[in-house]
Parts: sequence; C-alpha cells; structure tokens
Amino acid sequence: MININNLHKSFGDLVVLDGINMDVHDGQTMVVMGKSGTGKSVLLKLITRLLYPDSGRIFIDDDDLGTLSGKSLDKCRLKFGMLFQSAALFDSLNIYDNVGIGLRAYNRYSESEIKSITADSLEKVGLSDVGDKYPAELSGGMRKRVGLARVMAIKPKYILYDEPTTGLDPVTSAQIAKLIKEVQSDPNITSIIVTHDIPTGFFLADQIVLLDNGNFSFTGSVEEMKNSQLESVQDFISGYNEDLDLKHR
Ligand SMILES: Nc1ncnc2c1ncn2[C@@H]1O[C@H](COP(=O)(O)OP(=O)(O)OP(=O)(O)O)[C@@H](O)[C@H]1O
Ligand SMILES: [Mg+2]
Repeated sequence: MININNLHKSFGDLVVLDGINMDVHDGQTMVVMGKSGTGKSVLLKLITRLLYPDSGRIFIDDDDLGTLSGKSLDKCRLKFGMLFQSAALFDSLNIYDNVGIGLRAYNRYSESEIKSITADSLEKVGLSDVGDKYPAELSGGMRKRVGLARVMAIKPKYILYDEPTTGLDPVTSAQIAKLIKEVQSDPNITSIIVTHDIPTGFFLADQIVLLDNGNFSFTGSVEEMKNSQLESVQDFISGYNEDLDLKHR
C-alpha cells in the first residue's frame, strides 16, 4: 500500500503540493488527473524519491520513504516501475537492451533469462520485430510501448505511469490503454496513472483524484466523477471537451 500524508512541495514561491493525502490500496489503480502544471509529475517524482518533499510523509508498505537510505532505499525502489512522460529510452542502446536494463539492475538473471523475458515483454506489446532497432527509429507510440515492455519485464509491485497516452493518436492511445488494463489484471500489481486524457482515466481507474491548486479537489470513483457537480470537476471536463473541439476543427 502507498500512503501519502500531508505532503507539501514548493519550488521557491511556487506552491505545487499543499498538504495532499492519498491512499492507494494493493491491487488498485489510482488515476491522478489535473490540468497541465498542477504537479502531477512532481507527485510521481516524490513517490520514487527523484524529488524530496518539504514536509509530509510517504509510506511504501510499512516503510517511511523519508527515513530510508542505502540498501533499504534500493530495495524499496526495486518495487517500482515507472513509465515516464517522455518514455525515457536510452538513445545509444537498442530496443532489446532498453527493455533488459531494468532486469540487469537486479543482478539476479542470467543473460539467457534476460533475453527470454525481454523477448516475451516485447511480444506482449506487439513489437517482437524491433529488438535490434534504436529508439530514434521508432514512432512516439512505439517508444511508449517499449517503455511499457521495460516496466512489464521487471514485474514490479507498483507501476507509476506518467501520461501514458497523451500526445498519441486515438487508435494508439486505445491500444496502450488496453495493454495497461492487461497489466492491471494481475492482482499483485498496484498502479498510479497520471493523465489528463479523460477517457483513458475513466477506462483504467478504480479511484480518481483531481489535483487542483495544490490539493485534491475531488476523490472518488469513475461514476462519482461522472456525476459530480463540483465546480473543479465540471471545469476540468469542460476544458477537456473544448480542447477536443479545437483539435477536431
Ligand atoms: N525541478 C523543478 N524545479 C522548479 N520547478 C519545477 C520543477 N519541477 C516542476 N516544477 C514546476 O512545478 C509545477 C508542476 O509541474 P509538473 O511537471 O508536476 O506538472 P504536471 O501536472 O505534470 O503538468 P503536465 O500535465 O504539463 O505534465 C510546474 O509549474 C513546474 O514548472
Ligand atoms: Mg507532467
């Protein structure tokens, strides 16, 4: 379980997170929505300790993240897989090595095991034939799928997705959302998905939070969000629809 307690984070005068609380239960998927710049990526970076909070605590299972260091921090980090907003592939490594790199970090697998897990993960995302290529040779959607294959290969307990479908065409978005849904069907996997893509969020969420002005202005199920009369929710949904209108004009 991930438990977030009164978390604060500012950059200079800019207050990004102003005391947020969140529980993500084992096996569940939490979707974090919010307009651009509200701090969604910052939240994921705090959970993986790529950033430090100003105050507040994050518990990963029974560990207080802020108190971990050295081996215990490494051990906690190995519970996580992250799909970054930019896919974050290594340009100088081919696709096989990009997918296998997480497995190597464990020092637990033989080369032949790494080869077979990597091939298996690439097959799952429908990219069996690109292992020898380099990231620059792939489209944005393919790179996202490679990032997903890398996360699937390590079978982490927690998967954090930062905008897994944003910026992709609707067909590719739907394809990625379906792959994520398959990954989620494993009850041992707990996910946090950051997205401002409402259909994808609704498709994948058990619980949704809406980040607005440093706090969650809404927490609830998909149905509750669809029926919510809260101004912040209505605002977010109408902003999304206006964006769609503009794109289709
Ligand atoms: N390392 C940093 N130093 C200074 N400011 C930062 C840093 N990281 C993020 N910020 C600021 O914090 C705010 C929240 O950023 P964040 O990237 O979390 O937004 P977001 O909700 O993920 O937006 P988007 O939907 O566009 O990805 C932004 O104003 C951003 O400029
Ligand atoms: Mg972001």
